[in-house]
Amino acid sequence: MSKNLHEKPFDQATIAKLEIFEDYAQAWIPTFVMYGDPVICIFDFFAGTGYDKNGIPGSPIRILQKLREQIARIFQKKVKVRVFFNEFDLEKYQQLSIACKDFLHEYPELDRAIELKIFNEDFDICFKTLLPEIRDCSSLVYLDQNGIRFLANKYLLELEKTTRTDFLYFVSSSYFWRFGDKEEFQSHVKLDMEEAKKRPYHYIHRSLISQLQKQLPAGSNLKLYPYSLKKGANVHGIIFGASHPRAVDKFLKAAWRRNQVNGEANFDIDKDTQKGQLDIFSGKRLTKIEAFQQRFREKVLDGTITDNFAAFNFALDEAHLGRHAASELKKMKKEGLIDYDAKSPLVTYEKVCKEKRRIKFQITRK
Ligand SMILES: C[S@@+](CC[C@H](N)C(=O)[O-])C[C@H]1O[C@@H](n2cnc3c(N)ncnc32)[C@H](O)[C@@H]1O
Repeated sequence: MSKNLHEKPFDQATIAKLEIFEDYAQAWIPTFVMYGDPVICIFDFFAGTGYDKNGIPGSPIRILQKLREQIARIFQKKVKVRVFFNEFDLEKYQQLSIACKDFLHEYPELDRAIELKIFNEDFDICFKTLLPEIRDCSSLVYLDQNGIRFLANKYLLELEKTTRTDFLYFVSSSYFWRFGDKEEFQSHVKLDMEEAKKRPYHYIHRSLISQLQKQLPAGSNLKLYPYSLKKGANVHGIIFGASHPRAVDKFLKAAWRRNQVNGEANFDIDKDTQKGQLDIFSGKRLTKIEAFQQRFREKVLDGTITDNFAAFNFALDEAHLGRHAASELKKMKKEGLIDYDAKSPLVTYEKVCKEKRRIKFQITRK
């Protein structure tokens, strides 16, 4: 590695990345603490030093902070929370160990509530050691690597095989744009760079994920979602992966909260903010949400989507929120195109996956 990240303050894109990691931990921890599993696990395989140069917390300290917020529930449910941090660089590992020790000393109740292990290993070794734990528990896994190397199939496909793991990978996607054809890159992650380069540069992270998704075994339940992060002239990003709709719903809610225009980047990736004006040749261009709603409307009217279960799944598959579909359904009902026997179409995780309340849509006019 060429430079020591923690010798300088976190930049804005790094903070955005850390906040997404943190938002997801905030949603994940209480869900799994309350769920009733006897043991839950959190892994941060590239943990860094704990804080940046200015004392801004990095991912491991943010995890501890989020756990601290849930202490009462952890004790109440008597759930064993196992936390694993890893940092390869010896000096950073030592700093990390001190930072965690100090944090737990300051909050002794947290020290009693969790079991923390800190490793000083190369990821390859640490991942092999901890894979059985990842497999056996409900796990949240952070892979905040520098570069792209650890996105290799030998790791990603192991995560694919697990059934109760949610993971957040960081990938320096713009490296692919520059070096993706080189053998060294292809030996880690096989990508069709000709295909990726058919789209503009700022879509590189999105393209990377759509190719990875296609490389997963046939019938895989694992869903991958991008969150692109612009850092100066470069575009990097987070890959969120999970196979359960509850996890996907939580991630998408966090992503859309962070960017209410596109839900997938720390910048205006589709130039949606320019789409309000009329184009003299093509009329008004649709924003990402409007384009989704148009596709959704067509699927309802051609009979592909017949109830709120299908509507919810369609929204998640397209990286949209249930409410984007729900507001289109309400509009269609008002226009007299469809009818359903409820005040609201109930396109939410709670109604669909937990309560299993099905609402049928009838087409009244095409
Ligand atoms: C992007 S930084 C992670 C930052 C951290 N998440 C934080 O919030 O501060 C990547 C870290 O991985 C460490 N690292 C580099 N190669 C590694 C390897 N092979 N195994 C484990 N850690 C490694 C680096 O020393 C660096 O601290």
